[in-house]
Amino acid sequence: MKSADLCPEKFRTITLILIQIMVSYKTLGLVNTREMFKKAINGGYAIPAFNFNNMEQLQAIVQAAAETKSPVILQVSKGARNYANQTLLRYMAEGAVEYAKELGWANPQIVLHLDHGDSFELCKSCVDMGFSSVMIDGSHLPYDENVALTKKVVEYAHQYDVTVEGELGVLAGVEDEVQAEHHTYTRPEEVVDFTSKTGCDSLAISIGTSHGAYKFKPEQCTLDPKTGRLVPPPLAFDVLDGVMKELPGFPIVLHGSSSVPQEYVDMINKYGGNLEAAIGIPEEELRKAAKSAVCKINIDSDSRLAMTAAIRKVFAEKPAEFDPRKYLGPARDEMKKLYTHKIINVLGSDGKAE
Ligand code: G3H
Ligand code: 13P
Ligand code: ZN
Repeated sequence: MKSADLCPEKFRTITLILIQIMVSYKTLGLVNTREMFKKAINGGYAIPAFNFNNMEQLQAIVQAAAETKSPVILQVSKGARNYANQTLLRYMAEGAVEYAKELGWANPQIVLHLDHGDSFELCKSCVDMGFSSVMIDGSHLPYDENVALTKKVVEYAHQYDVTVEGELGVLAGVEDEVQAEHHTYTRPEEVVDFTSKTGCDSLAISIGTSHGAYKFKPEQCTLDPKTGRLVPPPLAFDVLDGVMKELPGFPIVLHGSSSVPQEYVDMINKYGGNLEAAIGIPEEELRKAAKSAVCKINIDSDSRLAMTAAIRKVFAEKPAEFDPRKYLGPARDEMKKLYTHKIINVLGSDGKAE
């Protein structure tokens, strides 16, 4: 049947269905990670990948990125999709591009990325809905299954110029609702085989980072006598060096890269919280990583801490306050401060998307 054989009403209905089924991120003003990562590796900086679950987080991310002219990756996790709805988050990201322009960022470089995708179907649905980048996390699978799944996602996503992040090695902590007691470092001897068989565009590796605010047990740390703070063991930069030697110039991703700022932990505890021995990755280590082939650094927990600290402060100091804007507003300001700090002082991505 030719389109000419269809009555105008049927033709319009089918066209509408097709438009609803597939949305290209390009029409939303989003970009994929390809050029961004190339420039980051050559320029010795990393792109911030911030998770978002709500409007205030998104506003803070966009304000920080627009003011610093930093490329930015907006990440949607499985948890975020369950909490806020994937469709709504996608439209919020579309709104983020327009908001960035309104803030005076003429050429926003914003990626909408699926964080820790755990199935082909989920990655496909994100590609179809307008995400410009997806992660397929097969790191808990046997190697050959990880290769096969990642390859399948890449083959689909690349048809639409959507970039794909794969993962090798296992991070300690909770990932994809899978609890791993110990991490397994990425094996540099596997990375060439994995990336060439799958065709993925970037590779998340395990070098000692982990998700959440409790990245190390106190007994793994040493005590800094000057500050009285616990200093965690260093990241396995030898593993990163091994990966970079095998895959020169290939974009590497670090998950679990929150630093767990002590000032937020202290603030949360001061205002009625109870976070004990929360320990993150020291910023000096992330600065060092950002100068290497690590070109995407994932940060989520630090934003949660900033938000919680600010909200707790308002609740403690103004117990009669019940207008959510009066505590979500300060929380948004604190997150913006945090994102701006990360961009300028840790990742070095400011001014890279003028
Ligand atoms: O990978 C972990 C991210 O921080 C997302 O966490 O699944 O609780 O949203 P979530
Ligand atoms: P953090 O828990 O260290 O912020 O890591 C976030 C992350 O890796 C999201 O994928
Ligand atoms: Zn992660």
